[in-house]
Amino acid sequence: MNRRYEAQLENIQQQLKIKAYPCIERAEIVWAYMGPPKLKPAFSELDWTLVPTSHRLSTRHIQECNWLQALEGGFDAAHLTFLHKGETSHVSRTIVPTLYEVQQTDAGFYTATGRDMGDGRIYWNTNALLMPAHKIISAVAPAAHMWMPIDDEHSMLDSTEFRFDGPLTEKDLEKVRGGKWIHTVNHPGTDISVLNKSNDYMIDRAAQGAGKSYTGMQGLGIQDCAVQESMGPIADRTREFLLPCDIEIVKIRRLYMQALDDMATGKPLLGMNAAGYRMRMERWFAPKSDDILAMMAERKYGAAARAAE
Ligand SMILES: [Fe+2]
Repeated sequence: MNRRYEAQLENIQQQLKIKAYPCIERAEIVWAYMGPPKLKPAFSELDWTLVPTSHRLSTRHIQECNWLQALEGGFDAAHLTFLHKGETSHVSRTIVPTLYEVQQTDAGFYTATGRDMGDGRIYWNTNALLMPAHKIISAVAPAAHMWMPIDDEHSMLDSTEFRFDGPLTEKDLEKVRGGKWIHTVNHPGTDISVLNKSNDYMIDRAAQGAGKSYTGMQGLGIQDCAVQESMGPIADRTREFLLPCDIEIVKIRRLYMQALDDMATGKPLLGMNAAGYRMRMERWFAPKSDDILAMMAERKYGAAARAAE
């Protein structure tokens, strides 16, 4: 009897396997590769993971909505002129973009948004989606987002400030630690922002009423979070009406649908080329007559900035 039990146990032990994923540590984050072992690519060469610790700082906070809903919000170009109005008098807050260019890359897509200055010039800025959920932002200092799913109705937004040419400045650090711009201040020991859905993001109605801030909320990150969460944890997309300015949103959905099809049929996926992640985003003024496609190609990997390093 015992011998039979032992034989059965041995048989079961041989069948039991614990699922394990290869992991790598970069920029104080553990990254796991969860795809087929034979297709495992080299680690993506995201600039912010390659600079020294002194050159970058991240914050993160939980968003009470689906990760894709939050990511799509991050790629909506026109909202800056409304939602973030009041923070500065920057062109992006005063002129609605009317020109859009989106190009697929081997890691995702690369987009340029143009604002007509009314004096023969266009103010361009570029952004990139790097699969599966990264955004590189054309700020100074540059910045990056990652929207990671926790479950269907919660996501973790990681926001990084970084510099290529030296350590972050005191001004950069103050911005991050003070919960300004894309960053949040969290309850100690948690990933929950002090300004959150449960306290109406501490809207300052007086500042809003006085026209100092469109939302009355402090920080771009919280303003984004508020509109993305207030749509509900998973918005009903059957009731939306997309316009030409939603071209990036359309591209995002097509990319993911394509990725699912490619995965199912064993085709190569976007993002397998590690060097394709080293894109640098820029903002610049150019005469209206300048060819945006040529300018995008020239600036895609920040060639001028790299030559100066
Ligand atoms: Fe925003």
